[in-house]
Formats: sequence, structure tokens, C-alpha cells
Amino acid sequence: MDIRAHGQVPAALGVVKRQHPETSVVLVVTALTPEVMLNAMRAGVNECVAEPLTVDAVGGAITRIIAQRATHVGGQVFAFVGAKGGVGTTTLAVNVATALAQQHHSTLFIDMHPSYGDAAVQLGAEPRFSLTDALDNTHRLDLAFFTGLTAQTRAGLTLLASPDNTPTVPIDPHRIRLLLDFAVRNYRYTVLDLPRSNPAMLDTLEAAQSIFVVTNQELASVRGACRVADAMSRRYSPDKVSLVVSRFDKGAEIGIEDIEGVVHAPVRFTFPSDYRVAVQALNEGKPFMLTDRGKLPGAVAQFARQLAGEAVEGGTSLSKVRAFGARLGALRWLATS
Ligand SMILES: Nc1ncnc2c1ncn2[C@@H]1O[C@H](COP(=O)(O)OP(=O)(O)O)[C@@H](O)[C@H]1O
Ligand SMILES: [Mg+2]
Repeated sequence: MDIRAHGQVPAALGVVKRQHPETSVVLVVTALTPEVMLNAMRAGVNECVAEPLTVDAVGGAITRIIAQRATHVGGQVFAFVGAKGGVGTTTLAVNVATALAQQHHSTLFIDMHPSYGDAAVQLGAEPRFSLTDALDNTHRLDLAFFTGLTAQTRAGLTLLASPDNTPTVPIDPHRIRLLLDFAVRNYRYTVLDLPRSNPAMLDTLEAAQSIFVVTNQELASVRGACRVADAMSRRYSPDKVSLVVSRFDKGAEIGIEDIEGVVHAPVRFTFPSDYRVAVQALNEGKPFMLTDRGKLPGAVAQFARQLAGEAVEGGTSLSKVRAFGARLGALRWLATS
């Protein structure tokens, strides 16, 4: 912003900065008076450049801003937790991660089940090490060591698998936080497949950008979604928490509005049902994103593009849908009784 004509830092600048904290501001001034500097600081200006405007002075200001950003911008963490077992959480998490990796982003998948998680099977990987090894060694997590604990999958993503045995010591929440911080620093995207019944895992998701509660359109999963989404919204900022509906059926008795009304969280996306594609992918250990071009992979690809912040046209994004169905009262009663 060039204020050389009037010499004043506009009052609106502070408001704009508060609304868009990621936007950097360089102020161009005639001279750096104490008054201008104080007002610039109060408005959240990042750099001031005074006359004479040389290439070095302007370039230096921009370089300093970029350097600051590089240290602040980390990767994004997307967490998936099922409203109930069998709703399709692992399938969705694995395929979303595959879609992100297909967009050439370094993507880490962490199967957060303390034991016997099945993401490795879905990814066709046979990892020698697991989450347990990572949590046992948080004091020496560097990229070389960590890479040794993971498996590179044919889906193009890096997998930290769940162990094939029961851990002998309880999970230490502090170590999960260290692991997630490490993931944020080293991978563009981290996708978590979370067990819904492990408090330590669900209590340590501060690093997550978004938490998706996966549900189906049946009463037991909607009840589960209420419980999980409610716990997550109390623990974290509610705008981080949304629902996704797997095996979506437009004609089903329980609709999107019913689910949103009961769960008090927005349905962010729906994914069609395709049992043949889902099961074949599972049996082959190859995410369907790698092989199939049908509606289900199409929806996952669109969702992943949305997560990656790319423009999406049309589609099944449902964050704007907020109508409450007539059956809501009955459903709410059923869900809480
Ligand atoms: N969109 C879908 N359409 C049809 N079947 C699905 C879909 N997503 C998952 N499935 C199937 O549902 C079953 C459970 O999936 P899984 O991802 O293991 O669920 P969860 O992790 O919630 O227990 C699997 O047989 C899987 O193939
Ligand atoms: Mg699962």
C-alpha cells in the first residue's frame, strides 16, 4: 500500500488485517516517522519501505515476508473418524489420501488405531514398523528415521501403519502431539484414520485442520455421529468439525437435513454407494482411486480437490443445505431415546 500521497495509515487497514491475517502488507512511505511506524505496527503491517525506493529495499521487504511465511505455513491434517464401525471410514480416508497424493502432494497416511487397523490391507502394503515404533521414538524423529518406519505404497502415499499386536503401554497423548507436529512440518497433507473409541487419539487433534465424522443414513450411525461430533465440537473449534455421508442414498428415509438437524454439524460431502468397487479395491489392496473412473472415485476426487483448496464447480458439497425436515422431531426423539 502506497501512502506517500497523504502520509496516513488508513484506519481500515487494521480491520482488513484482522479479517485476513494471512495477507501480508508492505507499506510504502515517504519517510519513516515514529508516528507512521507506530500506526503501521498497530495496523499489523509487515514491512515498511521508505523513499528512495530501490530494488534492494523493496526486494528485501518481500524476501523477509516470504521467509516468515515459509516457517509458518505447515502441512494440513485431515482427520476421519467413524460414527460407528463399518460405515466406510477407512475406505474414505485411504482414497482421499490417494487422491491428494495423485495431485502430486507429499501425503502421509497415519492409521491411528493402536492395534489391528486395516489401512495397510487397503493400501496393499506390508509395513515392518508401525505407529508404536514412531510413538516409542518421538525423541529422535527426523525425516530419515521416520521414513524407515513407513511404507511407500503404490498409491503414492507414505503409510505409517497400525501395529499387528496390542501395545503393552497406554498411548501417551504428548507423544501423539509430537508425531502430528512432525507430520505437519514434513508433509503437505496428513490423513488420519482414527479409532472412535480411543480418548487419547481423539483428544490430541489440535493440529488437525478438519475433522470429518463419517456416517451412513441409518439410525445407529446417526446416533454415533451425534456422540462423536458433539465430543469433537466441544473439544475443538466447532467449525473444524463436519459430517460426511458414505454410501449416500438420495431416496433413503433419513435425509441430509435430518442428519444435520439431529447432529448439529453440517454435512460437508456425500459419497455414493458402490459396494462392488469398494470391495474389489479392498480385496486387491489397491485404492479404487487408482483404477476406477465411476461415481464413487469421482466424488472422492472432487472432495480431495476441495480439501486441497482448488476450485470445484457444481458437485455434491452440501455445506449450504440447512433445511429441517418434518421428520426431524421424531428422529431426534429416536436418536436420544
Ligand atoms: N461408498 C461405499 N459403497 C459401498 N461399500 C462401501 C463404501 N465404502 C466402504 N464400503 C464397504 O464397507 C465395508 C466397511 O468399510 P471400511 O472402510 O472398512 O469401514 P470402517 O473403517 O468404517 O470400519 C467394506 O466392505 C467396504 O468395502
Ligand atoms: Mg476402519
